Amino acid sequence: MFTALEPSQRPAVVMDCGTGFTKMGFAGNVQPSFIEPTAVSFESSRGRSKAAVSSASASDTDVLIGHEAVSSTASDAHYPVCHGLVQNWDHMERFWQEAVHRYLRVDSEDHNFILTEPPLNPPENREMAAEIMFETFNVPGLCIGIQAVLALHAAFAAADRGPKSARGRMTGTVIDSGAGCTHVIPVSDGFVIGSAIQSIPIAGRDLTKLVQRLMRERGEPVPGDLSMDVAQQIKERYCYTCGDLVKEFGKYDAQLEKHAKSHSFWSPRAGAQQACSVQHERFLAPELLFRPDFVSADYTTPLPQLVDRAIQSCPIDTRRGLYGNIVLSGGSTMFKDFGRRIQRDVSRAVDARQAPGGKAVEVHVASHAMQRYAVWFGGSVLGTMPQFEGLCKTRAEYEEYGPSICRNSAAFTDELL
Ligand SMILES: Nc1ncnc2c1ncn2[C@@H]1O[C@H](COP(=O)(O)OP(=O)(O)OP(=O)(O)O)[C@@H](O)[C@H]1O
Ligand SMILES: [Mg+2]
Repeated sequence: MFTALEPSQRPAVVMDCGTGFTKMGFAGNVQPSFIEPTAVSFESSRGRSKAAVSSASASDTDVLIGHEAVSSTASDAHYPVCHGLVQNWDHMERFWQEAVHRYLRVDSEDHNFILTEPPLNPPENREMAAEIMFETFNVPGLCIGIQAVLALHAAFAAADRGPKSARGRMTGTVIDSGAGCTHVIPVSDGFVIGSAIQSIPIAGRDLTKLVQRLMRERGEPVPGDLSMDVAQQIKERYCYTCGDLVKEFGKYDAQLEKHAKSHSFWSPRAGAQQACSVQHERFLAPELLFRPDFVSADYTTPLPQLVDRAIQSCPIDTRRGLYGNIVLSGGSTMFKDFGRRIQRDVSRAVDARQAPGGKAVEVHVASHAMQRYAVWFGGSVLGTMPQFEGLCKTRAEYEEYGPSICRNSAAFTDELL
């Protein structure tokens, strides 16, 4: 006889909706099933692409999300998340509808859900997410995880080197740099030290814009309507973090042909492949995180200094653990040698303070294979832990107490491990 599975027996749905991209999939998997722009657009179903129609379920919706929304020529795409925070709940809900039913193709009543939130997310936002999830999606259980804490889980699960003790696993400093924002978040024993968080509103999009600007100023033959896309491809494929800006300029000046790359892209207007040259932007774009004053008069502190400042504003007995486990998360930490540069610059700041004869403080920056979608992967790991059920707020609790059950975010302490 057929017996229905309990929600706890099915994999939880994990959704990390970032400013730029939503990573969505199922707990227990190593990769998200979809990485789609967090974008939504509205158009008549007749205007939809073949891919949209073929992946569509029976629902006759005129909402497009992700790449389909961004590439739609019929209407403008809306971005419901801004600098990590949901700004338009109606658009967010429409996005989730499509994500759940048309992409993940699940019945939301059958799966527990894990959503993620940025540090210092207002409690009202958490309540709003809970209201939509329980009332519109009828989810059986919901867990809203703090992105930094999930990134810490991810680093531990993915790395072969890291703090061995259960306590050490949940202590570390997370550098999360995505599309819209760069945060430095110290976490001690699973609790975010909120007062010490540092952030700058400079991240992947600004880096892309810098690549675009430098190429335009040089007169590279990239059509205006493609320039942002091409700049993003170039940034992701050819950019790297350098050790010394002056030396790097010298290298390019001496032997440009050795360091420049040729990038080819498809131009729909020309109906052919076109090529452009990639030069100093290869190292200048990532440098923005180390020299934000290149583009901003308001945010001028280099990222390694923000890391040092964040840790220095934490209680003294936590600092060793925080320097010893600096964890990278998000697409904009993916540049070659990014971790090495952070490690070197933070170590310099620490060493400069070191009293003669005092015990040296070890700085360790952990890079790992899941870094691009570390927050999502942390959610995936969390969803398979036996303790996960205890962290979920249930529909019964929601019906009894209302959205305020999600007012406080779950803390994943070492007792869970
Ligand atoms: N290999 C790569 N190298 C450099 N940048 C990359 C790479 N892959 C993705 N990115 C950039 O990372 C950014 C997206 O990262 P991520 O998905 O972590 O951001 P998000 O979660 O959407 O945003 P946020 O965390 O700011 O809300 C984009 O700007 C993208 O261009
Ligand atoms: Mg993110």
